[in-house]
Amino acid sequence: MNKPKRYTITAALPYTNGPIHIGHLAGVYVPADIYARYLRLTDNDVAFICGSDEHGVPITIKAKKEGVTPQDVVDKYHAIIKQSFEEFGISFDNYSRTSAKIHHETASEIFKTLYDKGEFIEETSEQLYDEKANQFLADRFVTGTCPKCGNEEAYGDQCENCGTSLNATDLINPKSAITGNVPTLKQTKHWFLPLDKHEAFLKEWILEGHKKDWKPNVYGQVKSWIDDGLRPRAVTRDLDWGIPVPVEGAEGKVLYVWFDAPIGYISSTKEWAKRVGKDWEPYWKDKDTKLVHFIGKDNIVFHCIIFPVVLKAEGSYILPENVPANEFLNLEGNKLSTSKNWAVWLPEYLIDFPNQQDVLRYALTANAPEAKDNDFTWKDFQARNNNELVAIFGNFINRVVVLTNKYYNGVVPNPNEFSQVDEETLAAIKTYPNVISSSIERYRFREAQQELMNLARLGNKYLADEEPWKVIKVDESRVQTIMYVALQIASALATLSEPFLPFTSTKLKGILGLRHNEEQSDVVISSNKQLATSHKIESRNDDLSWDDISTKEILLPSGHQIGKAELLFSKIEDEAIQIQIDKLIASKKVNEVANKTVEPQKDTITFDDFTKLDMRVGTILEAEKMPKAKKLLILKVDTGIDVRTIVSGIAESFTAEEVVGKKVTVLVNLAPRELRGVESQGMILMTENEEGKLVFVNPDDASITNGLKIS
Ligand code: 2FM
Ligand code: ZN
Repeated sequence: MNKPKRYTITAALPYTNGPIHIGHLAGVYVPADIYARYLRLTDNDVAFICGSDEHGVPITIKAKKEGVTPQDVVDKYHAIIKQSFEEFGISFDNYSRTSAKIHHETASEIFKTLYDKGEFIEETSEQLYDEKANQFLADRFVTGTCPKCGNEEAYGDQCENCGTSLNATDLINPKSAITGNVPTLKQTKHWFLPLDKHEAFLKEWILEGHKKDWKPNVYGQVKSWIDDGLRPRAVTRDLDWGIPVPVEGAEGKVLYVWFDAPIGYISSTKEWAKRVGKDWEPYWKDKDTKLVHFIGKDNIVFHCIIFPVVLKAEGSYILPENVPANEFLNLEGNKLSTSKNWAVWLPEYLIDFPNQQDVLRYALTANAPEAKDNDFTWKDFQARNNNELVAIFGNFINRVVVLTNKYYNGVVPNPNEFSQVDEETLAAIKTYPNVISSSIERYRFREAQQELMNLARLGNKYLADEEPWKVIKVDESRVQTIMYVALQIASALATLSEPFLPFTSTKLKGILGLRHNEEQSDVVISSNKQLATSHKIESRNDDLSWDDISTKEILLPSGHQIGKAELLFSKIEDEAIQIQIDKLIASKKVNEVANKTVEPQKDTITFDDFTKLDMRVGTILEAEKMPKAKKLLILKVDTGIDVRTIVSGIAESFTAEEVVGKKVTVLVNLAPRELRGVESQGMILMTENEEGKLVFVNPDDASITNGLKIS
């Protein structure tokens, strides 16, 4: 499309069944925020839209588990999520929620329009039903084997392993997630969106129209679904939590969450427009608007097929220009999981690392799962901070500000004649806006951030080569030029870092005495104000725009007063990282206990039965391998009563030498039996640890855990 008149940027509405974690941030919110901030800085009209996704099965399941109402669950997490986004500096223009009246109205209206236009198929069919819970089972209420890839934990609406979008009745061996029961089939009426009817449109619009500009992972998934053949998809559900289906004969039914949730982008835009006195319609209906959906890869089918079909069928809406979905972020080598508490939670991060939002943003972008799944490790986080933010960006700025204060009381000096290196350096600064823009506009945020760091590297190298701290002793006038050039780089960094490191950018602008940009969204304004008041520096210059960096001859003029040095980043010590790693280890242990399968208890015995067992402490005096038997050792054991022979099946776990001298528990009155011609006169009690190794029963041994069977 030609240069858009405006942008509507949406970020996937998070489910309100838990707080935000780093997977959400890396996959969706950080890249979307970089994009929105960049567009604002380049003077575009932007609506950056999000809100809470408050319907759907995960919320109902959570409420059931906690014994509260779904409304309680969404109220709690909506507040937590909204606040943590604000504190983290995600600059949404509006953050709404799908329980809002305006959303119920908007979603109902769109459903009604499609209904009136005859876009749905009304059909009574057999659906999965849980007789015990008295409930139909769809979506996440039912799990089973994916017919496409064989994953045994596929959900009723989607297999998370292969991404296939499913109908609950497609699952092989379905099982209710509520009671564990095998569902029966029961008739019920629903409205279906005939995706197959729109196949030609989807082929032309995506397969032909977006082959080049959509990311290969997104295009590939969409192509494979279309190639597999699209089928009608139910857009209503038999549930009591959601938006009531607004037509007659639909009592007790609600809209499918994936029908209403994306419409949440539209209702959130309406809410925003009303608040700021704008018209919402051009943001969704003018063909000169560029609509971009930021999502994770599990949301591709909904944003590239189902929602566009709804918009197209409605008739008055534009379609997304791009859907730059990311792959998944893992944590320390394992899949992030809310239920297993295998995550770095944003609210906890904000407490554990106060005022270090930018460090997490930086680490997540540096390692963003843009083309493939990636791994977040705390060691990498520490290294990104200490070796890059502190050692490169922070170090350069600190040197420039400290030396300017030391030599010139903080006043930007007059440059003298520029050397060739100076000229080249000043020219190089001007190239960065375009280089970074080009990466951002192709949704390559990692690459864009690397380029930003290259500018900081350029600054560091310039100072290291020119050595003003040495030259000052012999040529004061040369140092004026060096510091002038270095200050121009610092100013460029202050502006160009804004999309990636917004808190740092604001702080740096404060230090350099550059004015803050008052035009940004509520969230940003509030964080800027907080930061701005902490810098008692008069704003003298106009804030520099993105384009100013390449077009303005002088970014920070001679005579301009800058402020005192303040550290932009500080070193993260090993102890802080260890605390986080320990938290994860603790989660892992809790999970292991919860997921461990122990052998069920045997039938109860009487005390008399127990007293029949005669167990003694003994010492192994001698041991030798039983010839031609892999498992058996022949032991001589001092039982205190006598020294006797016991044949024990432990040779795969111990050598004969290892066991000599060991104290053991011996069942001495077990009837003797012959093993390979040797009479065994008792039994040594052992257990098998989780790695399958036999161990003597010693509860202090760390590998012996609760529930292991002694035999
Ligand atoms: O996957 C999810 O977390 C969904 N709640 C995303 C919804 S995006 C949009 F369509 F609302
Ligand atoms: Zn599958």
